[in-house]
Amino acid sequence: MSEGSRIPGFYKLGLAERRAAVSSRAQIDLAELEHALEAGGLDTATADKVVENVLGIYGLPFGVALNVRVNGTDRLVPMVVEEPSVIAAASNAARMIRQSGGFRAEVVESLMIGQVQITDVEHPAEAVARLEAAAERLLALATKAVPNLIARGGGPRAIVVRDLGQRCIVLHVLVDCKDAMGANLVNTVAEALGPVTAEIAGGTLGLRILSNLCDRRRVHATCRVHARELVSSPRSSKIAERGAESDRPGELDGLEIVDAIVSASRFAELDPYRAATHNKGIMNGIDAVVLATGNDFRAVEAGAHAYAARSGRYAPLAVWRRDGEDLVGELELPLSLGIVGGTLRVHPTARLALKILAVSSADELAMVAASVGLASNLSALRALATEGIQRGHMSLHARSVASAAGALGDEVELIAARIAGEGLVTVESAARALSALRRPR
Ligand code: MEV
Repeated sequence: MSEGSRIPGFYKLGLAERRAAVSSRAQIDLAELEHALEAGGLDTATADKVVENVLGIYGLPFGVALNVRVNGTDRLVPMVVEEPSVIAAASNAARMIRQSGGFRAEVVESLMIGQVQITDVEHPAEAVARLEAAAERLLALATKAVPNLIARGGGPRAIVVRDLGQRCIVLHVLVDCKDAMGANLVNTVAEALGPVTAEIAGGTLGLRILSNLCDRRRVHATCRVHARELVSSPRSSKIAERGAESDRPGELDGLEIVDAIVSASRFAELDPYRAATHNKGIMNGIDAVVLATGNDFRAVEAGAHAYAARSGRYAPLAVWRRDGEDLVGELELPLSLGIVGGTLRVHPTARLALKILAVSSADELAMVAASVGLASNLSALRALATEGIQRGHMSLHARSVASAAGALGDEVELIAARIAGEGLVTVESAARALSALRRPR
């Protein structure tokens, strides 16, 4: 990614030119890129082998977020999402953030959790002590179950035992899955430990499965934006990478926007109803990267929301504070992502996404995904705290409505501008505008 992730005017290029630009930036053969993107990359014969009762393929747009710089490295970030404005929003916020050096991110730990449940335990406290004392033996057994992971430098690392009450205990085996998401590895380890765990505990063997609350595999991302960036950037309504340079949001100056975003953050900290929507905005960015790279978005969602509720009260995953004239954002969540195995074996577009990203480890992928989540959150809060979300949403939504009404080529932008300007974004209004446009004069 030597030339960076900033491609001014990218949104104005035609699709073929965009592909050519990404192929050249990411140094990927154009024919290979085009092949992987045609029809979503997956053919029906392959899909038929992936899941059951297949009838066909369900397509989603594959785009790329620009301007993302994480720990000093620029990344073009593939995103798969059906919602208009998500990619533009992330790119827009990332552009503001890169003015202050971009995102800083780190993986706090990188251990997945496998659970072995034991029920009907006669003396739970003694069972816990016996299992803790047997940790070395259990780890040796777990190690034997995953020779390929050991060969890749990963493997079981620790045993933690918890007394859940009601004569139920659970053994956690912590596994370093390296560049795999790790579900299969962890389940294999948990199943291998099951019988001996039950024997040592003196109880009945229950479930053996990973936990999606992978709070020992967390990623932490931060960013800083100067107040001036929040004003001078293109429209907060997220059309920066696609639409015209635009007016300023409302009458607020930069520091007022900083304070309004901090206040929006505090709202989410005080109220679970708001926190859920705040976190949805974060997951807009993260899920799109997770999907593009062939990862399990249900696992990521389950982990994120369980982590958000870890204190017993559902809370925002990212918070924003003012530091002098800067706005500072901080996000932490569990993220179990892989860059090997799983969908990647069968899905050329997911493999292409990883190539475009040019990440060399699952940890790097997690840091990029978290950064895009923080960017998505900033963009949403900035719009909400200033002019509101609808104006930007509507102008982008208008493009898909214009297409649905039959607009082609340049007509799409013309019709979208017209119906958004009139505030009447319906297929009927787009169809009327289209007939008027096409009517001979
Ligand atoms: C919409 O997809 C996401 C937002 O609702 C997020 C938020 O409210 O912070 C705009």
